Amino acid sequence: MSSKNQLISWFLKNRKTLPWRPEDPYAFRNDYFVWISEIMLQQTQVAAVCEHFSRWILRFPTITDLANASEKDVLSHWQGLGYYSRAKNILMTAQILVRDYNGLLPPTRKELEDLPGIGKYTAGAILSLARHENEAILDGNLIRIFSRLETIPFLPDQKSSSDFYWNLAREWSSSKKAFLINEALMELGRNCCKVKNPTCNTCPLKSICKAFISNQTHLYPPQKKKSFEEWVGLILVIESSNGKIYFTENSKSQFLKKQKTLPHFEFPYSKTMNYPSKAEEYISFDLVKNFQFCGRYRHSITRYKIDCNVLHILTTQKISSKDPHWVSKKEILKEAGNSFSLKALKLAGI
Ligand code: ADE
Repeated sequence: MSSKNQLISWFLKNRKTLPWRPEDPYAFRNDYFVWISEIMLQQTQVAAVCEHFSRWILRFPTITDLANASEKDVLSHWQGLGYYSRAKNILMTAQILVRDYNGLLPPTRKELEDLPGIGKYTAGAILSLARHENEAILDGNLIRIFSRLETIPFLPDQKSSSDFYWNLAREWSSSKKAFLINEALMELGRNCCKVKNPTCNTCPLKSICKAFISNQTHLYPPQKKKSFEEWVGLILVIESSNGKIYFTENSKSQFLKKQKTLPHFEFPYSKTMNYPSKAEEYISFDLVKNFQFCGRYRHSITRYKIDCNVLHILTTQKISSKDPHWVSKKEILKEAGNSFSLKALKLAGI
């Protein structure tokens, strides 16, 4: 049996049931479902996507329903998946699709790749997984598999090395069964050819895997150079005299834009920050009854590792129950869906 057929036969035996997959592995799929699930699966664990995908489709069953929704509604259905620009791009794309393409995803790779948030990978996934076209995909799973199969000592981090991997992806997907091969490779990468402790003995490609044959699986793919930046942050828990917490869309930081959070500021470590004067951007000192540093926590956002310092400020203000920028203590734990604000509230004893 050819390697491709061995891979397909492994996939048909080991294919997991997932909310976005039809039961029949040979069925054509809904473009929209493939688009949304593949964007959700970028940088997010399958378990988290499973929960969100079904809820999303119930709320936005078609591209037109999505295009008519508010950004707030869309972001609330993305809550917990992280990297919120993905949700904003999805909404923008849905609106373009309704305006220019009758609420459908366009037919060609070029047109798909012109849409916000749809790159080579997502376009390839829509074309192959949904429409059964003979198109390639390349994600982290396939990169790892190809690097091991061919003992490739570089990552696709430049034009020439990326072309090299895409050529392999095109070779593997040049088949009428590209839809099965592409998804089989992703499944193999997630469940067998794993980053750590790959289970090579059960791999359908072990007889052609140069890394396995030479006992060098641990050397491939080569390690990425880490480029984390250490930052320092200040998170304010501002509490009114009648027990309300200031909690609103944040405008003074590049992080968590358009999400409701506690007020916060972040800077590279090399810059010094005067905490009390930063707090004055939100609350005048005349209104401060008392303030206290409550502690620190670490939080990562994209490539920034932030050392967050929490300042709890009690004010003399009494806030009307109608003010939308302030939330009662009881409600805030429900509203603060992201761990960033929850960690600070915990330190402030709320
Ligand atoms: N990872 C991302 N997309 C996937 C898919 N369609 N199947 C398996 N793993 C995936």
